Amino acid sequence: MARPTTANIDLSAIRQNYQLAKGLAPDSSALAVIKADAYGHGAIRVAHALEAEADGFAVAAIEEAIELREAGISKPILLLEGFFNADELPLINEHALSCVVHTTDQIQALEAYTARAQFDIWVKIDIGMHRLGLPPSQSKKTFARLGALKNVRNITLMGHFSCADDLAASTTIEQRRLFERVSGSTQFATSLSNSAAILGWPTVNSDWIRPGLMLYGATPYEAPQQNADQLIPAMTLKSAIIAVRTISAGESVGYGASWTADRPTRVGTVAIGYADGYPRQMRSGAPVLVGGIATRLIGRVSMDMITVDLTDIPAANIGTPVELFGRQLLASALAPWAGTIPYTLFTGITRRVHKAYSD
Ligand SMILES: Cc1ncc(COP(=O)(O)O)c(C=O)c1O
Repeated sequence: MARPTTANIDLSAIRQNYQLAKGLAPDSSALAVIKADAYGHGAIRVAHALEAEADGFAVAAIEEAIELREAGISKPILLLEGFFNADELPLINEHALSCVVHTTDQIQALEAYTARAQFDIWVKIDIGMHRLGLPPSQSKKTFARLGALKNVRNITLMGHFSCADDLAASTTIEQRRLFERVSGSTQFATSLSNSAAILGWPTVNSDWIRPGLMLYGATPYEAPQQNADQLIPAMTLKSAIIAVRTISAGESVGYGASWTADRPTRVGTVAIGYADGYPRQMRSGAPVLVGGIATRLIGRVSMDMITVDLTDIPAANIGTPVELFGRQLLASALAPWAGTIPYTLFTGITRRVHKAYSD
């Protein structure tokens, strides 16, 4: 048997999570955000699994979009950061990609592009994140310039919330109001919500929602939340025990001898490490499931292995399966042990981890 380190990916869970997003915004279309290889789940597999029902897809870069087109995906695909260089414009046209415009430089490039083309443009307004987007104060001028272009076919207006995962803050309401002040004077279609807004801010309405993290079954919130609690984790990261030993109280485990036993301890070695994407920052005490029973990480994460406490799981032995996160141990519960968020756990899974799909 090959190294047992596997990410099991349930494509039907992704479809159900997509349907949950649609159910929460029944009057909106939805772009499934599948950038970064579908948050580590495999963009082509996820796109094929969703193609019948998804209204479209969103990615971060043209390379990701072309890979999807070459795999036969024909639904709309939005480039969330637009083009980085004007020489992408012929490819954007050829592959019928929709394109965010967030700088005046990009508008200038469209104005200077004289070849025959039809672009679907998503104008990004900076509603407070201050990362991407044109200032609301320039929107009228922007719309006039884009409206004058023969090569622009459709315009959609989009904004992106900075704090939608904070349900107590008023920021989302303020940012939505600002967006509506800009969009209200136009006939353009609109797009606002990411996962946190879809799940937690039902009063936010727009024509297009953009669910990412929630498709993969993880919550963007730190606390339980009624809608997020219905999500189904799509990825289960698994491995197995490959060695077992017992150490005495006072003996240590792993590099740097960072964890010392305070009782005779049965130590299980698991075939997964930071080169697989299990973060090196994961602290001793982090939850791990061995044969379905909860135990903890002990000692430092190595490149290819971790060590876990089997003292209270006498039945565990070489070959016993281990779940690092997934259906039974949520990525959102594990992530804080490494000072991180489920997004980085998913996108950090490396090529070495075998992906096994079920539908
Ligand atoms: C513009 C935009 N919309 C939507 C998303 C999806 O966000 P989430 O994964 O939090 O749903 C992202 C992701 O970063 C994004 O950049």
